[in-house]
Amino acid sequence: PFIVVDSYKNWLQIQQQRKSSLRAACDKYNLSTSSNYENVFTGQLLVEHTHKFIVCEVPKVGCSNWRRVILTLMNISIEDLALKNKSIHKHNLLKKVQQYPREQQKEILKSYTKVMFTRNPLERLVSAYRDKFLHSSYYYGTVVANSIKKRYRNNTKMAENVSFREFVQFLLDTHNMDVHWNQMIKLCDPCNIQYDFLGRYDTIERDADNILRFIGAPEDIRYPDIKNHATENRTNLTLTEEFLRNLTRKQIDGLYTLYKKDFLLFNYPVYNQI
Ligand SMILES: *[C@@H]1O[C@H](CO)[C@@H](O)[C@H](O)[C@H]1NC(C)=O
Ligand SMILES: *[C@@H]1O[C@H](CO)[C@@H](O)[C@H](O)[C@H]1NC(C)=O
Ligand SMILES: *[C@@H]1O[C@H](CO)[C@@H](O)[C@H](O)[C@H]1NC(C)=O
Ligand SMILES: *[C@@H]1O[C@H](CO)[C@@H](O)[C@H](O)[C@H]1NC(C)=O
Ligand SMILES: *[C@@H]1O[C@H](CO)[C@@H](O)[C@H](O)[C@H]1NC(C)=O
Ligand SMILES: *[C@@H]1O[C@H](CO)[C@@H](O)[C@H](O)[C@H]1NC(C)=O
Ligand SMILES: *[C@@H]1O[C@H](CO)[C@@H](O)[C@H](O)[C@H]1NC(C)=O
Ligand SMILES: *[C@@H]1O[C@H](CO)[C@@H](O)[C@H](O)[C@H]1NC(C)=O
Repeated sequence: PFIVVDSYKNWLQIQQQRKSSLRAACDKYNLSTSSNYENVFTGQLLVEHTHKFIVCEVPKVGCSNWRRVILTLMNISIEDLALKNKSIHKHNLLKKVQQYPREQQKEILKSYTKVMFTRNPLERLVSAYRDKFLHSSYYYGTVVANSIKKRYRNNTKMAENVSFREFVQFLLDTHNMDVHWNQMIKLCDPCNIQYDFLGRYDTIERDADNILRFIGAPEDIRYPDIKNHATENRTNLTLTEEFLRNLTRKQIDGLYTLYKKDFLLFNYPVYNQI
């Protein structure tokens, strides 16, 4: 028990450091607002009322697993949902803060425990690319992919997958920021919403489990370790660097500019090979 208490204290200290570093960056770049929740427009906030809990959904940063946890907290059986073939992303049991009247939104935002998880912006981008363009997703693999191919290819080789390089050039040229690769600062508005806990993908299980204990979740509820594509290696920094090697210096610089605030606010180091 001693060790547990000790490491929990240690974790709380790390949380304080993350929060004050975020706060300092928000101030430095003049992104802080009065923070009374008058102007919160993000549609990414999932809410669970029994434990007064809000998690900001950042795609490619453990989102599906948070959905599973919240359903479990709501006493909804994940196994039943799976049996009924209801996707974790497609049913109306999960509530967003935005669904409530404005005044109620303010109350919820002020009094609930709010958490946000982040990931290295380029690792997240590679993860989104692999998920959306290298797997059979109709919308991304066909509709979005075709518009990218039309832009960058002559009528040859239309069957080949969109390459990471083409995808990145598309983002840089169009600033078409789909929710899966939109900047984390835009998805979760962290200079305006005072998050109680800031989790990181690299420490997601420890962060998530400590948060679950904090909100008083039943002891047996743990953050799951489920991957969307079970047979593939997770996108980590080593793999990310492999993808980055296919980009030009100019494209990498462009990505830094595009995700600059995410790097600065959440303290991710700038990739400096190449
Ligand atoms: C910070 O933002 C406020 C409001 O948007 C603006 O009035 C002010 O000039 C900005 N300050 C700096 C240093 O950019
Ligand atoms: C959760 O569901 C189980 C099985 O349906 C039920 O026995 C239990 O009372 C429920 N718990 C809560 C807190 O609703
Ligand atoms: C769920 O989907 C799988 C394959 O997609 C199918 O084999 C199974 O019959 C479905 N189950 C139900 C209950 O619809
Ligand atoms: C497309 O074809 C034109 C003319 O043949 C050529 O100049 C151009 O470089 C080609 N573009 C690409 C992306 O292959
Ligand atoms: C596209 O990528 C997927 C996954 O890597 C691969 O299985 C498929 O063969 C590729 N398709 C083409 C036309 O290269
Ligand atoms: C996963 O990574 C290991 C080590 O880099 C590699 O040997 C293996 O082939 C990879 N597996 C897949 C499915 O890509
Ligand atoms: C990334 O994962 C591969 C296996 O999938 C592993 O070989 C490699 O060491 C990992 N890199 C990092 C930085 O963890
Ligand atoms: C990099 O580009 C080469 C040549 O186009 C391709 O064969 C390879 O799969 C690419 N690597 C990655 C990680 O996208």
